[in-house]
Amino acid sequence: MFKSIIAGVGHYVPENIVTNDDLSKLMTTNDEWITERTGIKERHYRKNRNDSEETTAFLGFKAAENALKNSNLTAKDLDFIVFATLSPDYFFPGCGVLIQEMLGCETIGALDVRNQCSGFVYAMSVANAYIKSGEYKNILVVGAEIHSFGLDFSDAGRSVSVIFGDGAGAVILTASNDENKQGILATNLHSEGKYAEELCNKFPGSKFGWSDRVLTEPNAVSADEIYPTMNGNFVFKHAVTRFPETIMEVLNSAGKTLEDLDMFIPHQANLRIAQFIQKKLNLPEEKVFNNIQKYGNTTAASIPLALSEAIEKGKIKRGDLVCLSAFGSGFTWGSILLEY
Ligand code: COA
Repeated sequence: MFKSIIAGVGHYVPENIVTNDDLSKLMTTNDEWITERTGIKERHYRKNRNDSEETTAFLGFKAAENALKNSNLTAKDLDFIVFATLSPDYFFPGCGVLIQEMLGCETIGALDVRNQCSGFVYAMSVANAYIKSGEYKNILVVGAEIHSFGLDFSDAGRSVSVIFGDGAGAVILTASNDENKQGILATNLHSEGKYAEELCNKFPGSKFGWSDRVLTEPNAVSADEIYPTMNGNFVFKHAVTRFPETIMEVLNSAGKTLEDLDMFIPHQANLRIAQFIQKKLNLPEEKVFNNIQKYGNTTAASIPLALSEAIEKGKIKRGDLVCLSAFGSGFTWGSILLEY
């Protein structure tokens, strides 16, 4: 059976930086509240919130270009794409096909994954299964989001909108049967759909009959249907329970222990969640990588964006044991354990 090796990783964020002070000009908030509750100091938004050029697929494309460069492969070498996002360019089709065109790939398959904050972990797991089975050899896995176009910048939306940012990350997974390379060792995926509405975006959804209402009644769709809503405390409590469970599960599956771990990269949901997990599992601070301070929560992009930066900064080296874990809307959660 083949193993899935990481051939290259890359990331891309829009240039425009938005600080907590910038947000305090749009809504009643302040740097102290945001920093204390989330650890976030700034995030990147595309320059123009209504830009039709710098889209989610475009960010993913730029991250993919960087990942390809780092892997010494070209777009022509790819034989499958998995694209994770909750903020696609179109309601349909997904971003996978758009990036296939942007990269100039052959007419390879392109799959979109809609698993929000866990999207990248789900996407990697799917790609890993394809590679292990021998179906595909070089798979591009992308996580990308443009959140800034769809957030409620009024006071009513402030507990959600201050958290999220735009960005993208990409990984090239490649098949190997080299005995000296381990690649992905274990994965797990979970869901609990009874909590779907604890963190969700209702519009446009078939449950809410939105198209009839929008076309027939002025102002028929309310702000809490158009914008994402979140029961923050509830999400927090579930996250700090599910993260340690999925981490221990993936380590046990591979016969590894917490002591074996060189680096843990949690989905960048909230710095306080990451710190809570670190303390609960007794992990040394230097074995947990966070960059939410600079980017906010970039949902499906957060893990590949953090992985890419950690590698760039030399905090992850070839051969290191790395755990990637996520929890989010759905609820969904899961982990990937790999030897880089
Ligand atoms: N600036 C200033 N005040 C704010 C604010 C903001 N941006 N957002 C909310 N507040 C106010 C609230 O109105 C409330 O005021 P009140 O006490 O007068 O009613 C007060 O701050 C506390 O609000 P609350 O929502 O209880 O805050 P919290 O301590 O639960 O923190 C989150 C809110 C969102 C930061 C926190 O719940 C959280 O991080 N949850 C996890 C969310 C997450 O990780 N989501 C990502 C998906 S994986």
